Amino acid sequence: MAESLRVLFFGDIVGPLGRKAVKKYLTIHKQADHVDFVIANGENTTHGHGLSYDHYQELLSYGIDVLTSGNHFFNTPDVRRYGNDMVKQVRPYNFDKDAPGVGTNLFTAMDGTPIRVSNLMGRVYMNGVQTNPFYDLDDIIKMDDEKVIHIVDFHAEATAEKRVMGEYADGRVTAVFGTHTHVQTNDLKLLSKGTLFVSDAGMNGAYYSSLGDDLDSAMRRTITGMPAALSVPRTGKMLVNAIQFDINKETKQVTDFKLINETYQDDPS
Ligand SMILES: [Fe+2]
Ligand SMILES: [Fe+2]
Repeated sequence: MAESLRVLFFGDIVGPLGRKAVKKYLTIHKQADHVDFVIANGENTTHGHGLSYDHYQELLSYGIDVLTSGNHFFNTPDVRRYGNDMVKQVRPYNFDKDAPGVGTNLFTAMDGTPIRVSNLMGRVYMNGVQTNPFYDLDDIIKMDDEKVIHIVDFHAEATAEKRVMGEYADGRVTAVFGTHTHVQTNDLKLLSKGTLFVSDAGMNGAYYSSLGDDLDSAMRRTITGMPAALSVPRTGKMLVNAIQFDINKETKQVTDFKLINETYQDDPS
């Protein structure tokens, strides 16, 4: 049995071009690059807002193993009906205790290796958080009797808060990846005690966009200060943002890693 596991983590998937971009990347790379496990933030998958049950199933069919979420979790009515059935999704752990779904879970890679995936949300410029994400992380880590591979999606606005979460978790989890700001940052690194960290994994969606949203409506809204319906482009050049990393199954630590920042021209398929 191989001693290491290769994992892909995609930043926020935004709208139809995000779905198309991730599908294309996985079709080309998943087998060719020997990827064992795939995680993606799906909070903006359905028209930029939330993750419908149909799109949840669609993303899993591309070869994604686990979806994480964020502040847009409640933006689809499917959450109330199917939230507890979407067992391959984790939503922010620090939502209200009555929120559907779970904030952390232990999954299994194809070879049987357990992988914990947790989703926590920051408190700076974010709404809906009910508990302290740092103390919550302590509680989550205590759930496992022995050290397991543990990937944390920290969905937060402020870079400083994300960096502090990386430091707080350093040496205790395998990786902390920031999401939510939709712009991939150039600070992917191993922290001093071995945890892999990036401030933001970026986004998958329309290349010519504002964080995945249609540029015309984003500009109108921002420049005039007047409301304008946001929409997501359906055609055009696509952006793929992810992190690929290898984990030693014994130590649960990352041995190799790289940022993925690719573009695809749209095609009619
Ligand atoms: Fe997002
Ligand atoms: Fe978000």
